[in-house]
Amino acid sequence: MKTIKLEIDGQQVETAGGTTILEAARKAGSDIPTVCYDKRLPPYGACRLCMVEIDKGGEKRLVASCAYEAEDGLVVRTETPRIVKIRKMILELLLAVSATGPLEALAKRYGLKESRFQGDQPKCLLCGLCVRYCAEIKKNNVTCFIGRGIGKEVVFQSDLSHSLCPVCRECIPLCPSGTLYSLYLKGYSGSPEPGSNKGL
Ligand code: SF4
Ligand code: FES
Repeated sequence: MKTIKLEIDGQQVETAGGTTILEAARKAGSDIPTVCYDKRLPPYGACRLCMVEIDKGGEKRLVASCAYEAEDGLVVRTETPRIVKIRKMILELLLAVSATGPLEALAKRYGLKESRFQGDQPKCLLCGLCVRYCAEIKKNNVTCFIGRGIGKEVVFQSDLSHSLCPVCRECIPLCPSGTLYSLYLKGYSGSPEPGSNKGL
């Protein structure tokens, strides 16, 4: 496999062709925050927290590092003032619907005490981790998205969830918003009323 040479945060890095910037940067010690990334799943590009600045032959732009493959000669900066500003804005929006777990840790890291935006908590961030994990790793397809735009939500397909969720529940610790854990604490067993899908 071809070896790619690039610069990440001032360091010369070599990585295998096909590696994403996120993977190469993490290996080189750069701590890029992510919410919708899971190394077992294909990139999804939902949260945009992994945004980095790339310089390609003098042309600078921002890219989602979880989805952008490393290229020869690329200069990557993972935490510039511009990136920090964008991440803080994204984080504020995410914190409005969940301020626990990984988001709480990221708020501390970026010095955010509270969000200017308010919302019911915890609420689904639409990161897609539960849907993708259930479909691609477990091959169960119990969870899926319905709707579009602001009407988009995750639902459990009741006919499948009744039998499959109680013996799995592997999506619960994956959920960065704590929504699935909160449902679990409320006694939701993955067995909603027959025939009715359960929106989160
Ligand atoms: S329920 Fe949790 S894991 Fe599933 S899409 Fe929403 S935030 Fe992500
Ligand atoms: S981790 Fe890259 S967009 Fe969410």
